[in-house]
Amino acid sequence: AENKAPATGAEGAGAPVAKKLTVGFSQVGAESAWRTAETNSIRGEAEKRGVDLKFADAQGKQAQQIQALTSFIAQKVDAIVLAPVVETGWDVVLTRAKEANIPVILVDRGIKTSDESLYTTLIASDFVEEGRMAAEWLAKKTNGKANIYELQGTTGAAPAIDRKKGFEEVLQKYPDMKIVKSQSADFTRAKGKEVMEAFIKSDREQIQAVYAHNDDMALGAIQALDEAGMNPGKDVTLISVDGVKGAFEAMVAGKLNATVECNPLLGPLVFDTINKVRAGEKVEKFIKSNDQLFEQSTAAQVIGSREY
Ligand code: AHR
Repeated sequence: AENKAPATGAEGAGAPVAKKLTVGFSQVGAESAWRTAETNSIRGEAEKRGVDLKFADAQGKQAQQIQALTSFIAQKVDAIVLAPVVETGWDVVLTRAKEANIPVILVDRGIKTSDESLYTTLIASDFVEEGRMAAEWLAKKTNGKANIYELQGTTGAAPAIDRKKGFEEVLQKYPDMKIVKSQSADFTRAKGKEVMEAFIKSDREQIQAVYAHNDDMALGAIQALDEAGMNPGKDVTLISVDGVKGAFEAMVAGKLNATVECNPLLGPLVFDTINKVRAGEKVEKFIKSNDQLFEQSTAAQVIGSREY
């Protein structure tokens, strides 16, 4: 698709009129505070730049994302931004986008594909590294000895697979750190609470640490621990991923011990990248965010400067 519409003569001096950039954005849903921050960042940036953004919320369903992409292709959008709910099953629809010459920018989550040319770039955090950072921190905090209960993200989603992988990789070095139970809580606070309640019911005396693949699930787990009269942040050590405001509040309250940041404020980078691609510039296949770990001890100092 062209960036500039040809002059029609009706513009007076005959100067070309800039055509509005049209971008389709297929979002996973609104399962966590992190995702809402990402949606706001991309929508806000589109508005600031005068981009016509077609936004589709898939409510956690891949079928709805495929439908949205099919519709974006039919509408001949200039680019597609996709935050894929799961890693696999994208080749057919992405082949259609490629045939229509529509660049596809993956945001925050990667995919598994037999043909890497089906997407232009992935703008995201390194989830394996986040898992490693969480495990190294927990090993230090517990002197390499802990019964760990893991709350996994959405089954089949890149952050659930990779955050587990990085975490387990580091645990190899610590024979006294064990994941006793591990279950999906779908990245939501409600399910985090529900799964933690079940863990408490069966294993109350053994629970020493909780590793949650996102902050929302950790916040749900904290609620369950509080209600059970246990002591989150003290008797049970909790670490999660995202770095949302709620996690900082829980750290200030002494209930969450640490969070590994995962940057959702991708809007500016997404549209800069689309512009580069349209200008024919080469972009990296993986544009990585740099994340850091935050602990309880600095949470009060940092909370005021958090943007999400
Ligand atoms: O893909 C990023 C993950 O998805 C975030 O950690 C989580 O909160 C979100 O739902």
